[in-house]
Amino acid sequence: MAEDDTPKRPRAPNPRVPSRRAPRARPAAPEPAFAADPGATAPKRRARLPGGKAPAAKPLAPPVRTAPTPAPHPERAEALRLLHEALERGRPLADASRDAAAQALPGPVRAHALRLATETIRRLGQADAVLARFVRRTPPAAARDALRLAAVSLHALSEAPHAAVDGAVAALRTRPGGARLTGLANAVARRLATPEAAALWARTEPDAPRLNAPGWLWGRLSSAHGAAAARRICAAHLAQPPLDLTPRDPADARVLADALGATLTRTGSLRLSAPGQVSTLPGFAEGRWWVQDAAAALPARLLAPQPGERVLDLCAAPGGKTLQLAAAGADVTALDLSEPRLERLAENLARTGLAAETVCADALDWAPDAPFDAILLDAPCSATGTARRHPEVLHRREKPDLASLTALQDALLDRAWSWLRPGGRLVFATCSLLPEEGEARAAAFRARTPAARPAPPSGLPPELLSEDGDLRTRPDLWPELGGLDGFFAAAFVKEA
Ligand SMILES: C[S@@+](CC[C@H](N)C(=O)[O-])C[C@H]1O[C@@H](n2cnc3c(N)ncnc32)[C@H](O)[C@@H]1O
Repeated sequence: MAEDDTPKRPRAPNPRVPSRRAPRARPAAPEPAFAADPGATAPKRRARLPGGKAPAAKPLAPPVRTAPTPAPHPERAEALRLLHEALERGRPLADASRDAAAQALPGPVRAHALRLATETIRRLGQADAVLARFVRRTPPAAARDALRLAAVSLHALSEAPHAAVDGAVAALRTRPGGARLTGLANAVARRLATPEAAALWARTEPDAPRLNAPGWLWGRLSSAHGAAAARRICAAHLAQPPLDLTPRDPADARVLADALGATLTRTGSLRLSAPGQVSTLPGFAEGRWWVQDAAAALPARLLAPQPGERVLDLCAAPGGKTLQLAAAGADVTALDLSEPRLERLAENLARTGLAAETVCADALDWAPDAPFDAILLDAPCSATGTARRHPEVLHRREKPDLASLTALQDALLDRAWSWLRPGGRLVFATCSLLPEEGEARAAAFRARTPAARPAPPSGLPPELLSEDGDLRTRPDLWPELGGLDGFFAAAFVKEA
């Protein structure tokens, strides 16, 4: 069981009391955080001796508490756990919110916790700027995160002070070592709820895009896209993005849009601004669509897979693009290094009733038995293009090692190219905002691969094309519709 399920230690059994007298409890098992099973603590009835006499009473053990009072703010306790997983351990929030500790919570609590943690990470810079006025030194990580959560709940989410302040302090108590920090956290959190703190927060708003972006990202975006575009992109990172869906059958898109109350984008995605719970939306159970940002749906369209073609989806998991390729009728091999992510890909295939062969392997070691007609390489990258949905990608302890990432992207491109039949097509894509991982990789590939003929996409809105005619999307595009993730994709044909 995860550490966060055990906020309090189980009491040690009293050795002076015969065990048959003790109430039935599982002394070795940690107490569940929010379980309440009053029956579990009921003492057994005393047995009667023959003749109806009860045995002489012996002193009873003090009651063992196996059902702690439910934590008063479970969503905040879970939000703090998520913040720890994302900021200290570098895990995606979406992965951490599938942990057993999260699964034990009711769905709405889990969803609320994920919203709180996501918004706190989006507004980390503002929260830290305001906190700096109330603390002399940065508090230990657990207390710092509880205070960040309180600040964002109060000033970005306009939550009531009793939930934001008391909730954050109570949640801190559930963290390892958190109980001894609650005095400090309580004093500071109360000051965060004052008009003085509200005024401070309001003063940070005009510079929120810059304050909430890590310095390395701001610098790189400014030099790549210009200062004004950097500000627009970082402003877009602060907004809750819409939910985009890809229809399994493009011909079904209009009917689905009507059923879902969705907008049909110019590139064929369905867009919902206030989605609610995804699994209850029309068409989910029948697998008629899957969740995929409108920009993320474009690289597979660039590949234009045909029915019966042998197609490799390289770096495939969790599989949004595999589903698109399979839905087009291609004979798909989906390869990825990560087994857990491939499990999610298999779940997605099962729900949508689509088929693909899955291979768990390192693409740098693996080789196919026969060449492919088409290959989609969605290469590992800084993932900066997904920051509006996954803000934690910007706040890992280490900033992205671009030299290693771009070397891996080049190696994967060259390997994939060698697996393509003459006349075959390859699309290279990254979900990055940085030209080093997009435009520069495509240019270097063109320069070292004479047989690679660029095949710029046709039929895309011009605002989604780079200077070279490749796909380039950014969060500040389509502002009236709610933006797009950042993606780059270039297509090549292998000359015979
Ligand atoms: C950008 S994600 C892929 C997203 C996926 N194409 C989709 O649409 O859902 C990159 C993937 O590359 C995988 N990966 C990283 N290095 C790899 C390698 N050497 N061989 C195979 N897969 C790798 C990661 O496990 C990760 O799932």
